[in-house]
Amino acid sequence: MEIEKDLLPPEELKTLFSDPMKLEFGKTFTDYMFTMEYTRKEGWKDPKIEPYHPLVLDPATMMFHYSQTAFEGQKAYKSPKDEILLFRPQENARRMNRSLKRMCIPEISEELFLQAECELLTLEKRWIPTQKGTSLYVRPTVIPTEAIVGPIRPSDEYLFFIILSPVGPFFKEGFNPVGLLADKAYSRAASGGTGEAKTGGNYAGSIAASQVASNKGYSQVLWLDAKEHRYIEEVGAMNIFFVLDDRLVTPPLMGTILPGVTRKSVLEMAGDLGIEAEERLISIDELIGGITSGRVTEIFGTGTAAVISPVGRISYDEEEYVVNNNETGYWAKKFFDTLTGIQYGELEDKYGWVYEVE
Ligand code: COI
Repeated sequence: MEIEKDLLPPEELKTLFSDPMKLEFGKTFTDYMFTMEYTRKEGWKDPKIEPYHPLVLDPATMMFHYSQTAFEGQKAYKSPKDEILLFRPQENARRMNRSLKRMCIPEISEELFLQAECELLTLEKRWIPTQKGTSLYVRPTVIPTEAIVGPIRPSDEYLFFIILSPVGPFFKEGFNPVGLLADKAYSRAASGGTGEAKTGGNYAGSIAASQVASNKGYSQVLWLDAKEHRYIEEVGAMNIFFVLDDRLVTPPLMGTILPGVTRKSVLEMAGDLGIEAEERLISIDELIGGITSGRVTEIFGTGTAAVISPVGRISYDEEEYVVNNNETGYWAKKFFDTLTGIQYGELEDKYGWVYEVE
């Protein structure tokens, strides 16, 4: 297909970008998308970039019924030298394949995944907002496209697509502390389930509890383990970190928690920033005890969309516990500044995490 550049007139893009920090997260999409199809007979085939368009699917398509899906979340940034930067995209390609495997979907070559992203981003460079705190969100997704409602089995056909969305902050609070609700009545993922896969069902199952949290004035749910409703797991849109006795603590990956790329990066750079990090089980009782005794001095979440999000309030058993006077803490700020400095190409990337899209 002949690519005609710049479908949205430049003056309309200028208007859209007049205050990019105010862009509603994931609501606006760029001119083009990447697509690739799979059939059992031919494998992954026909990769192409096309104008962004709605998908026309038969109502019987497996996608609508059994949620055999996988997706990723990444961000592209514009460096001060006008380069397009991705953050550890190989990690996303690998995690996508782990999710695909768990969902019994044929894997996609990491090279192809990355090449597709690079070609699309190069074409859509003008859609990357430059203001710090904004970026071009990348959403690679695989859906089953076979139209059959009978058997519960892997689809014989799939569609892989990548769409791009210019975004500001994920939370309306921006980089200000959010409040979380821990509620024993709900769980996100059980042992042996799909908790560590990035698949739609995990998010669908979290909506009811998120609404309870939202109705009580909290931004997100702090999920507890499904067996004992005791151990802290994650926040759905983020992984979670605690500063406890001057050490950084985060729950270990045991199959029920999404293995976040930001989580991994925070763990890997903690020592260099001057704090020891530890992956260990932490119960809600230990957390509440730690907040009331002053041993827990900070809480923050990590995620691609959320980056580093300070947590100022935790609600549990009808009580609210305030952390660090509901203010952004030293470590949240330090990790935020360092991570975003690297991601935007402003700080030296001694870890080799930044990937320049050529
Ligand atoms: C991300 O952080 O990229 C995610 O996929 C989380 C989603 C709730 C926006």
